[in-house]
Amino acid sequence: MSSPIRSKITGMGLNVPKKVLTNHDLEKMVETSDEWITTRTGIKERRIADDGVSSSDLALPAALEALEDAGVRPSELDLIICATSTPDRMFPTTACILQRELKAAQCGAFDLLAACSGFVYGLTTADSFIRAGSAKNILVVGSEVLNHLIDWTNRDTCVLFGDGAGAAVLSAVEGESGIIDSRIHANGEYSDFLMVGTGSANPIKQDTFENKDHYVKMKGNQTFKVAVNTMSDVTREILEKHGITPDDIDLIVPHQANIRILNAVGKNLGVSEDKVFINVRKYGNTSAATIPIALYEARAEGRIKDGDLVLLVAFGGGFTWGATLIRW
Ligand code: ACO
Repeated sequence: MSSPIRSKITGMGLNVPKKVLTNHDLEKMVETSDEWITTRTGIKERRIADDGVSSSDLALPAALEALEDAGVRPSELDLIICATSTPDRMFPTTACILQRELKAAQCGAFDLLAACSGFVYGLTTADSFIRAGSAKNILVVGSEVLNHLIDWTNRDTCVLFGDGAGAAVLSAVEGESGIIDSRIHANGEYSDFLMVGTGSANPIKQDTFENKDHYVKMKGNQTFKVAVNTMSDVTREILEKHGITPDDIDLIVPHQANIRILNAVGKNLGVSEDKVFINVRKYGNTSAATIPIALYEARAEGRIKDGDLVLLVAFGGGFTWGATLIRW
């Protein structure tokens, strides 16, 4: 009897803007300090896209690298999922622009908006297509140009975010390696804790503009607490379902929002610090792009080997959260 079909990450790509904005740069823009930002968030610097650079522009080199790494031609893609909160336009979707640029014409393409959980939501969706036999190769991208959503005069938020893109190709394989399972959750009761307030419910006009509704607004303290609890809970949920203990995990690759959130989650789960991959120091919070960027770097640094058990865990606006368990 043949083994069940699983979806395996067969290629990865990364693309971050060259321009670096350090905490010392921010000291000149708002009343803050490198010391405050470092101790409260773990962030030292973030990348900022040049004017005119869109999410699809950032995504394209990451997607090309992932395809080459996987040995998959664009014409072999069955689906492109672009997880982003910062699409090029409302429509056409960023995924369609990417499809055009990759010359992957005719495959399905859509954007997925689940804020910082977008990449885990995207993997979950792609895995379902592959297990159902409806797709063999899927490109999942997390790409964000967040800097336009940031009020650069507001120290509460401007120190936290950055721009970047990461991509993964998922391919149908037989055998033990690949995505074991995913869990995704949401709770819209928390919608006003973290939001960009403009849209069809609040179209941009003079007063929304003056009220800065088009910028990210966040209740930082409350968001922090829910992030720690939900990321810990969903990790326990997926591990318990598969009879796995935190000790069995080789590496946790979490959404990178704040080092204190990651340390608290690690402590809740009783995992040692060396089992949690952290690169928030270099990029800040790139929303849907943090996990593919971190996963790419973890693999490049030799922190993930074939056969390892890897857990991705995410949390974002909505609130949304989720986890994906992978046998690498
Ligand atoms: N520099 C200096 N001081 C600051 C800054 C800053 N950049 N920002 C806030 N402060 C001040 C505040 O004004 C406050 O001053 P006060 O005591 O005089 O009133 C003081 O620092 C403490 O502020 P808090 O908000 O209590 O600081 P906290 O320790 O909670 O840290 C932070 C704030 C970093 C935002 C934290 O709450 C956090 O990381 N929250 C979660 C963020 C997160 O996970 N976001 C998820 C995003 S997911 C997505 O979908 C985008």
